[in-house]
Amino acid sequence: MKKNISNIGFIGAGNMATAIISGLIRNKFNNSHVFVSSPEEDHLEKLKGNFSVNVSKDNREVVNSVSTLVLAVKPNVVEAVLDELSTEIPKNDPLLISIVAGYKIASIEDKLDSKLKIVRAMPNTPASIGMGVSALTANQWIVEEDKSVPESVFGSIGLTCWLEESAFDLFTALIGSGPAYIFYLIEALQEAAKGLNLDESTTKELITEMIKGSSTLANQSEDSLSLLREKVTSPGGVTEKALEILNRKEVGRSIIEAILEASDKSKTLGGS
Ligand SMILES: NC(=O)c1ccc[n+]([C@@H]2O[C@H](COP(=O)([O-])OP(=O)(O)OC[C@H]3O[C@@H](n4cnc5c(N)ncnc54)[C@H](OP(=O)(O)O)[C@@H]3O)[C@@H](O)[C@H]2O)c1
Repeated sequence: MKKNISNIGFIGAGNMATAIISGLIRNKFNNSHVFVSSPEEDHLEKLKGNFSVNVSKDNREVVNSVSTLVLAVKPNVVEAVLDELSTEIPKNDPLLISIVAGYKIASIEDKLDSKLKIVRAMPNTPASIGMGVSALTANQWIVEEDKSVPESVFGSIGLTCWLEESAFDLFTALIGSGPAYIFYLIEALQEAAKGLNLDESTTKELITEMIKGSSTLANQSEDSLSLLREKVTSPGGVTEKALEILNRKEVGRSIIEAILEASDKSKTLGGS
């Protein structure tokens, strides 16, 4: 049977669930078709106040109301939640989407013991402003026509791509953690900008706008990245001096090394 989003439920009402719900509503998804559960009354009330969605402290109530179910709890509680819902989920047979970092599809299948359609997703934090990048991977029961549901859920918070689950560790280190590397760069540039004698919020605006502009140029230009870099770099000039130091200190190589080691760390933490 072809799945459509129809009613969508969230087990967990935290940052990522809120980002996705906000994206869905921004994209004109009907709020009366959204159901959310979590233990904290305050979080639920906030979601209800902001988005007029259906909320409940009872996870079962959400499972029983939806055809698409998003598992949005922290990794340390996911097993308890799956144990609690191990009869309810297979009985209702939703399309299950898990965003639990590092938790494999096989672990969900083991817990639920069924032929459930499961998608695992890895979004990143710019999802909170609709500019996330999410990887999606599917189990064997997902057929081509099921893919439009996760694509539209995560499409509502940014860009999506399908990946083999075995590539999730590298994706996590590269794109999931990626915003932290950019914030690290911005912090260093802000430190270097002190001599401008501007207040911190102005330098932050100048630097982030420069990064946004450069990133958009890299995205839109037909020139290669190295050509774009060369266009800023006159022989014997200012940029060349800075790049000479970055190269001498092997910053590029260090970035690659950092990401590969972070990917290994993701593997040892129990990722794919
Ligand atoms: N944030 C990110 O950038 C990001 C990126 C990729 C993946 N993820 C993954 O997304 C998941 C959620 O992350 P988050 O940042 O949204 O975490 P979060 O803000 O801590 O949200 C977790 C939610 O789960 C709820 N919860 C706890 N126990 C529960 C239970 N037994 N039944 C139902 N709900 C329960 C919490 O409820 P109360 O607070 O009401 O107790 C809270 O609303 C995590 O697995 C994380 O690995 C997050």
